[in-house]
Amino acid sequence: MKTKILITGSSGFIGFHLARKLLEKGIEVHGYDSLNNYYDVKLKKDRNKILKKYKNFSFTKSKLENKKTLEKTFNKFKPNIVIHLAAQAGVRYSLKNPDIYLESNILGTFNIIKIAKKIKVKHLIIGSSSSVYGANKKIPFQEIDKTDHQVSFYAATKKSAESLAHSYSSLWRLPITMLRFFTVYGPWGRPDMAYFKFTKKILTGKKIDIYNKGKMFRDYTYIDDIVDGIYKLLNKAPTINSKKKFKNDSLSPVAPFRILNIGNTKKISLLDFINTLEKELNKKIKRHYMPMQKGDVRSTLSDSSLLKRITGYNPRTNYKTGIKNFINWYLNYYN
Ligand SMILES: NC(=O)c1ccc[n+]([C@@H]2O[C@H](COP(=O)([O-])OP(=O)(O)OC[C@H]3O[C@@H](n4cnc5c(N)ncnc54)[C@H](O)[C@@H]3O)[C@@H](O)[C@H]2O)c1
Repeated sequence: MKTKILITGSSGFIGFHLARKLLEKGIEVHGYDSLNNYYDVKLKKDRNKILKKYKNFSFTKSKLENKKTLEKTFNKFKPNIVIHLAAQAGVRYSLKNPDIYLESNILGTFNIIKIAKKIKVKHLIIGSSSSVYGANKKIPFQEIDKTDHQVSFYAATKKSAESLAHSYSSLWRLPITMLRFFTVYGPWGRPDMAYFKFTKKILTGKKIDIYNKGKMFRDYTYIDDIVDGIYKLLNKAPTINSKKKFKNDSLSPVAPFRILNIGNTKKISLLDFINTLEKELNKKIKRHYMPMQKGDVRSTLSDSSLLKRITGYNPRTNYKTGIKNFINWYLNYYN
């Protein structure tokens, strides 16, 4: 059967890169995105323009909440794999605008799960987040760790989506993989993320706010490694008869459902990340040290050995190379 992949959030950062890779491989892709104005819409449109150059790409501009358009799109395109990346992202914005998160991430995801069940897709991959580990102290984070203490509303919507997905997978034997992303960065990235904002401020000589006095650590994952990991996972849908081959396998005992971390598996300090930005831009940053922000976590680190065992995933890009690539793109895109 011909592979047909529907990607929600295709004009977003990760969705765009993934769609482009699949299109390059000759796979038929349908993108679904509302092109909302959470950040610069021009950036989303420019990503979309690149995708529209491919003959094997088609696109629907609509919200996940618009059930009629969603159903029409799915029924017409008939995807066998769905990669659901559309979401209201960002931890900080969820303090001010929680309703949007509820609508996009819970209701929107539920609409996707329901329609995926109806048309019997072979594999539904859903974007989750390392933020579901919340207040956990034990690192690296493993998929089998308890995730009961989210500290932001964004994280709570992501955890809820995991739970909704598991119930549908169990009830209707719908093969689902939840992918927990760890701070994804790179060219065509998200302007609301710290590294992007810092770059803009360094170039315009403005002060940057550094939370928790810089005592923060992130597992920064380069976009090409993320795309590579998702690509390798396409045909590795969990099945109800799969046996747990590995000690740390997060496979559900009652459903074709699995949770997978996808990170770079290295803990980098925020200050090292900033120093590298300064070096690449050849400019000193004016720093404004701030206390810890509500909803933030101090440290993230992924154990991605499960994904590695299942797919051979092997993140290759160290953060210095990744930042260099990002800066090159940034200077070129914004002249
Ligand atoms: N980038 C990261 O570091 C990161 C980390 C953890 C999790 N994630 C998750 O990965 C996924 C992709 O993230 P991203 O960084 O590409 O974000 P992004 O904001 O660049 O992309 C999301 C896209 O979804 C679209 N969208 C949002 N709400 C929608 C709705 N209700 N209906 C239709 N379209 C809608 C937006 O217009 C946007 O183009 C999200 O689920 C996000 O929560 C990302």
